[in-house]
Amino acid sequence: MSMFTRKFDRKVHVAFGVFLFSLLFGVGFGYYVLWPSDLEAGYEPAQPILYSHKLHAGDMKMQCLYCHSQADKTAQATTPPVSTCMNCHSQVQSKGPDGQVLPATQFVLDHWKSREPIRWNKVSDLADFVYFDHSRHVNSGLTCQECHGPIETMDRVRRQYGLKMSWCLACHRQAPPAGSRAERLGWDQRAPINCSTCHR
Ligand code: HEC
Ligand code: HEC
Ligand code: HEC
Ligand code: HEC
Ligand code: HEC
Repeated sequence: MSMFTRKFDRKVHVAFGVFLFSLLFGVGFGYYVLWPSDLEAGYEPAQPILYSHKLHAGDMKMQCLYCHSQADKTAQATTPPVSTCMNCHSQVQSKGPDGQVLPATQFVLDHWKSREPIRWNKVSDLADFVYFDHSRHVNSGLTCQECHGPIETMDRVRRQYGLKMSWCLACHRQAPPAGSRAERLGWDQRAPINCSTCHR
């Protein structure tokens, strides 16, 4: 025999269901918002051709700013136009055993001829409601690798760190390194962490 009427029993079940649902939803949402997650690290999208940073920036030791020439001047680092590649590849055109220019180089030459930009897939894509500026960071002495990892060892670019708020804050909260602007200004941390710094 049940302790309660059947109608009351059903109400208890419904109430318990709602409670359980809210609990799971709450925990899930809290986890999504608060956990210092690097869920998005390791993202490595395919590109139209295999352009290798390991070869160009690693073995050949080309400077990052040779191709990403806006990184110390504007908010965006930008990827280079085909004309930058043609500084070399108008001459350097390795051929396969069949005597044909290798397909990836041919792809670059075709885009140059048709004046069409190469559409690379973005690797680091920050939420649009966040304000970020490359030049501020690069000119304060940060290396590209502190945020992008050892790019010069990668054949295909892989996202080193998730782009969560906790990642930005973890660095901004650090003690100012010796000789940094923050140290000269007598700040107790590396960079500001008030909300309007990044949400304007
Ligand atoms: C400073 C000169 C230089 C610049 C600038 C340059 N490359 Fe290269 N690239 C080379 C050299 C040298 C090789 C090696 C050729 C070899 O060993 O066969 C190479 C190899 C390559 C290869 C591999 C060969 C193949 O066809 O599979 C690709 C693809 C390539 N480059 C694409 C690019 C792209 C895209 C850009 C512009 C974003 C670029 N390169 C800019 C010098 C350069
Ligand atoms: C010869 C030109 C060249 C040089 C030198 C070069 N890059 Fe790149 N970089 C590119 C091209 C082209 C892309 C777009 C294709 C890709 O993602 O591989 C790119 C993409 C990137 C990306 C990913 C951008 C995104 O979508 O998030 C990062 C980060 C990057 N480069 C950092 C560097 C760093 C750091 C160096 C120096 C160690 C460097 N690059 C040197 C040409 C270059
Ligand atoms: C403080 C961290 C930080 C430093 C230092 C940094 N980057 Fe970035 N980079 C980012 C973030 C975050 C994004 C994504 C920006 C977005 O999506 O709006 C990004 C995006 C890029 C892109 C994609 C194109 C663009 O502008 O969105 C390239 C290329 C790039 N970075 C290259 C570089 C190079 C080269 C250097 C060094 C000269 C460098 N970055 C230094 C954090 C950094
Ligand atoms: C590895 C360390 C590091 C990381 C990661 C980093 N920052 Fe910074 N950021 C700095 C430093 C250092 C400064 C201070 C530059 C100065 O003023 O000397 C700064 C300054 C800034 C400023 C300018 C502050 C002002 O005074 O107006 C903004 C905006 C900013 N960062 C946004 C971001 C965002 C958004 C992210 C994450 C996507 C991020 N940063 C990740 C080190 C970092
Ligand atoms: C140094 C840069 C920086 C500062 C300072 C900062 N944020 Fe953020 N915030 C971010 C970034 C980057 C994201 C995007 C995270 C993502 O896409 O998951 C974000 C996302 C958010 C979101 C969306 C939820 C989420 O986590 O995705 C909220 C809400 C938020 N921030 C509130 C704040 C508040 C409130 C403050 C002040 C206490 C603050 N932020 C300070 C960089 C910052």
